[in-house]
Amino acid sequence: MNIGELMNPLNDVIVSTFHVFPKGFVKRFAMRYIAGEHVDEAISLAGQLNSKNIMVTIDVLGENVATRGEAIASAKSYEDVLHLIDRHKVNGNISIKLTQLGLEIDKNFCFDNARRIVEVAKGYNNFVRIDMEDATTTTSTLEIYEKLRASGFDNTGVVIQARLRRSESDVQRLVEMKASVRLCKGIYIEPLNIAFRDRDEIRRNYIKLLHMLLEGKCRTGIATHDDVLVKAAYDAIAQLGLQKRDYEFQMLLGVRPDMRNRIVANGDQLRVYVPFGEHWYTYSMRRFKENPQVAGYVFKAIVFGNGK
Ligand code: FDA
Repeated sequence: MNIGELMNPLNDVIVSTFHVFPKGFVKRFAMRYIAGEHVDEAISLAGQLNSKNIMVTIDVLGENVATRGEAIASAKSYEDVLHLIDRHKVNGNISIKLTQLGLEIDKNFCFDNARRIVEVAKGYNNFVRIDMEDATTTTSTLEIYEKLRASGFDNTGVVIQARLRRSESDVQRLVEMKASVRLCKGIYIEPLNIAFRDRDEIRRNYIKLLHMLLEGKCRTGIATHDDVLVKAAYDAIAQLGLQKRDYEFQMLLGVRPDMRNRIVANGDQLRVYVPFGEHWYTYSMRRFKENPQVAGYVFKAIVFGNGK
């Protein structure tokens, strides 16, 4: 057995024990995936990415708030980000999570919070992407999106997860609405009766949904770091004879800068998801679990005392 084979199961073990490490230690690795704890850090990083021809979408970390006060405070943070984006002439928009705005407290209250943010964004001619969370929230998230559209807000879009079996019928409806859609695989592990688990099945569904969105002339965010899907996207774009303004690629901060550079060098539009905030821990743990290879770095840091 070589060292690589040995590390794979070991990485999973390290990730599953991450929570016992001191937060300060985990933070050293988390900083690869987040801009920092403060909005100034996100705005400054956004400026650096813009200077490399990369657009951003800024996310205030947090989800599943328990009180109305917390939800209102989150909405206010997003409004502040929109003001700063305008003031610093950042080429970017924002990504919001509805459970952070009170979805689990009261749907109408959550709608009001989302509506206020989208209204502020509209004032700046800016855009609000509604992230998609776990499958218990899919229906209500799409309902709130549709209600915003019905209230006259076209400056908003949603996310579709190729992992979910329901996504094909959701996309059919979104195509009718000419929605702006970010297409991703979906990060939440869902029950088999509602979701695909097999990597190739998820990829096949992603490609199918991507064709539906592009053929349906939806403004599409192709959100993936998977070489197979990026190639499939380029094939679809060529086949449909699309212009570069018709779509954009989207990637997460800290993931595959090699791919990021290739996409930009090709002259395509690329947007990077820039999360920031005090609640960096949950987000980072999700990223570590997604890519247990990161645990290998931690292992080396523990054994060799080198975290870089
Ligand atoms: P895959 O996971 O197969 O990754 C492909 C390759 O990328 C890997 O082999 C590895 O090299 C690299 N890679 C992937 N993750 C990495 C990591 N954490 N660290 C280092 N390398 C990594 N999901 C969701 O449920 N709701 C949402 O709203 C969003 N929003 C969103 C926005 C944007 C801009 C992106 C890019 C992604 C999301 N996602 C999301 C996450 C998405 O669903 C998915 O979990 C990740 O993008 C990983 O899937 P890939 O398609 O990249 O493939």
